[in-house]
Amino acid sequence: MTSVTLSVNGRQHVVEVEPRRTLADVLRDDLGLHGTHLGCEHGVCGACTVLVDGDPTRACLLFAVQCQDSSITTIEGLSKDGALHPVQQAFTDNFGLQCGFCTPGFIMLLVGALESHSVGNDEDLVEVLSSNLCRCTGYRSILQAAKQAAAELQAGAGKGAR
Ligand code: FES
Ligand code: FES
Repeated sequence: MTSVTLSVNGRQHVVEVEPRRTLADVLRDDLGLHGTHLGCEHGVCGACTVLVDGDPTRACLLFAVQCQDSSITTIEGLSKDGALHPVQQAFTDNFGLQCGFCTPGFIMLLVGALESHSVGNDEDLVEVLSSNLCRCTGYRSILQAAKQAAAELQAGAGKGAR
């Protein structure tokens, strides 16, 4: 077993883990953060996406011991003072989910992409969303939610720049 300190959603957690255990398993089984879902467990579906130092990352492909000194954000860490993150609100407003299994992964993917300002137009959004799989919605409502969130975050960034 190895001791690792994980910074998750702004809180430090010291956990004893076997080096073979993934970040996704430790988040779910040791820290009780079940919003990070596991689908394929080999890097294809994106259901396990979390932010590691702000970058969308597949938690099923990363060992927990690799995350010492990194800042991790999961879906549980997005809302502030009871208010949903703009990406969460956009999924709600646009019915961007059905079973919801893929939803945390899509939301973390979009938060990372939009907050890094790497998304310039709708084509970029489609490209970003192609990284994750949803078996339910046909992506139309997810794309609609992504457009709303992008517009809101860009407007917010514009205000901050003034
Ligand atoms: S569970 Fe990680 S990519 Fe599918
Ligand atoms: S809402 Fe069901 S897999 Fe995406």
